[in-house]
Amino acid sequence: MNIDKIKKEVEVELKKLQNDRDCGAFHQKYLGKSGEVTLLVQSLRDIEPSKRAEAGAMFNALKKDTEEKLRKIQNDIKQREQTEKLMQDPVIDITVPKWGPGGVPLVGGLHPITLVIREVEEVFKGMGFIVESGSEIATEYECFDSLNSPKNHPSRDMQDTFWLSDGRCLRTHTSAWQNYILKKYGPTFRAISPGRCFRNENLDATHETTFFQVEGMMVGEDISIANLIYFMKTALTAVFKKDIKVRLRPGYFSFVEPGFELDARCIFCDKGCSACKQTGWIEFCGCGMIHPNVLKEGGIDPTKYQGFAFGFGLTRLAMMRWGIKDIRLFNSGNLEFLGGVK
Ligand code: PHE
Repeated sequence: MNIDKIKKEVEVELKKLQNDRDCGAFHQKYLGKSGEVTLLVQSLRDIEPSKRAEAGAMFNALKKDTEEKLRKIQNDIKQREQTEKLMQDPVIDITVPKWGPGGVPLVGGLHPITLVIREVEEVFKGMGFIVESGSEIATEYECFDSLNSPKNHPSRDMQDTFWLSDGRCLRTHTSAWQNYILKKYGPTFRAISPGRCFRNENLDATHETTFFQVEGMMVGEDISIANLIYFMKTALTAVFKKDIKVRLRPGYFSFVEPGFELDARCIFCDKGCSACKQTGWIEFCGCGMIHPNVLKEGGIDPTKYQGFAFGFGLTRLAMMRWGIKDIRLFNSGNLEFLGGVK
């Protein structure tokens, strides 16, 4: 009986198997139709019936064992070949960050403007303001007429406007949304609207044609300048995470009366620095009590209701927040800049 011989031979041959072809040849030699192990099992019929059961168990065990070992070797070879292929021809793994200039990972992130918009929205939502965004294209009525700006009034020239051929314009400020909101939510509401604005400016480190503002309004009975100061101070304190003092100076905007420029105590210094031009105060936004004509135009009776409005630059806020020196970076797509703001 040559079972022992075949068993040993199988062990030796299994160890030599290197690739698919070897495995195929091995299978044919031992496990194929006329393979040695197969023939061994078939030879059972020639064995004396009394020994057949014992021999059958041995032969079948060898067959099963050989098949299993071969299968395992085939699996190992397949895996090894796949790994080798991957090493030669790397596939793109989108989960692995690539590295860009300045060691900045090229992974997706939120634009600094998106980050400040979200932050400002959270702060004002927490104080009961609704958020409603308006259209970037405005009618002349929305952008100027409804805001108490008489035709031919110099305030229309103050802002260099991009006019469209159909008479509409790219909104020069988020105030263009005031009339719509007064009509929609008046006479008592609190609302803000962040969004993109456009002015025909020459570009430099502090001027851009495309920038972001947020407009805010609170309308109701007995609304006063004290409310305006309170909300501005609270919002600035929340955004900068430190107590921020504010002050009002007279300012002209056709849609508020009285109108103010609101300054915030410089967030960078105590006494004076380049950011506050040595004054200790940073000009932050225009604001004031909504002009009676604007309320009237929005369908609200100015003898019964008052309100305040403010509009500040979110781009400017982001510049203050992260100490960004050049406004042109925001629209530049510069990855080093985008990755550096968190
Ligand atoms: N719209 C003004 C600007 O663009 C800011 C402003 C908003 C002023 C609301 C007063 C009230 O500068």
